[in-house]
Amino acid sequence: MASLHHNLRLATEADLPAMTDVLNAASRQDPIYPYRFPDRHLYASEFALLCQQKCAEYLASSTVVVCEMPSATEAGAMQVAAFAVWDTPASHHMVQARTGSLEPLPSQRPSSLGVPITIGHKDRMNAFKSACVQYKASFFDAKYQGGHVMLRILLCHPDYQRRGAGRALTEWGINEAQRLGLHTTVFASPMGLRLYTKLGFIEIGRFRVEVEGDKEHLEIPALVLSPTAGIWETGRETTCGMATGTGYNGVSPTVCA
Ligand SMILES: CC(C)(COP(=O)(O)OP(=O)(O)OC[C@H]1O[C@@H](n2cnc3c(N)ncnc32)[C@H](O)[C@@H]1OP(=O)(O)O)[C@@H](O)C(=O)NCCC(=O)NCCS
Repeated sequence: MASLHHNLRLATEADLPAMTDVLNAASRQDPIYPYRFPDRHLYASEFALLCQQKCAEYLASSTVVVCEMPSATEAGAMQVAAFAVWDTPASHHMVQARTGSLEPLPSQRPSSLGVPITIGHKDRMNAFKSACVQYKASFFDAKYQGGHVMLRILLCHPDYQRRGAGRALTEWGINEAQRLGLHTTVFASPMGLRLYTKLGFIEIGRFRVEVEGDKEHLEIPALVLSPTAGIWETGRETTCGMATGTGYNGVSPTVCA
């Protein structure tokens, strides 16, 4: 499918509803969500609130970049089609620049959304969380002690997939990592794995998330891209595709015909 004109910028609190929609719609395609929320169709409104709560947490704690594309419903309007959540050594500074404070805004504090986290498969959620902490430490933190730029979350709304948003958002972080001389790291979903390997990421290991006696499990690959790597596409080296010039809050706008 042809790439669409798109624009990258840092997210603001005003993006919370659109980010929530993207997370709610795209998360069913990444096995880590159905694994932890197998009955989400039974509590759809609570799950939507949980998505809102998670997005508020991302805005408060990480560097969130949104990708806008022409709206499918409103002629001439741009719509947040995808977003990426990055943990960079500079994330705290960027959050501070956006909010003026390192403290989350009152409206972003999860507790202020009034949603107790009571939904989901508790044992799987705990197993997933502790495995991610453990393997982030062993695969990435121990190896790259000078820091790394980690893609925590990447989601594109199903209505906008295969139009280049995921690639543009990933290249934003790669560019940032290369500027800092750091590796780019990610735990990949099956759909993400296709994108990251296309961009030249190398798989350095895998881990399982499982609960004793449970027939379901997850297998999650850990991928890295070296700071000196070019961006590879089916054997052809390309540039990151960033346009020159500085856009919103220092994020370069990209335009793809
Ligand atoms: C992974 C995801 C973010 C990719 O977003 P996207 O905007 O559709 O990706 P792009 O259009 O930039 O794809 C770039 C390239 O990645 C590869 N790719 C992406 N999605 C693919 C798919 N479903 N099947 C095969 N290859 C795929 C292709 O090589 C594609 O290039 P092409 O379209 O020219 O063939 C999106 O599929 C998604 O949100 N999935 C559900 C959530 C998820 O798994 N997120 C990743 C977590 S690690």
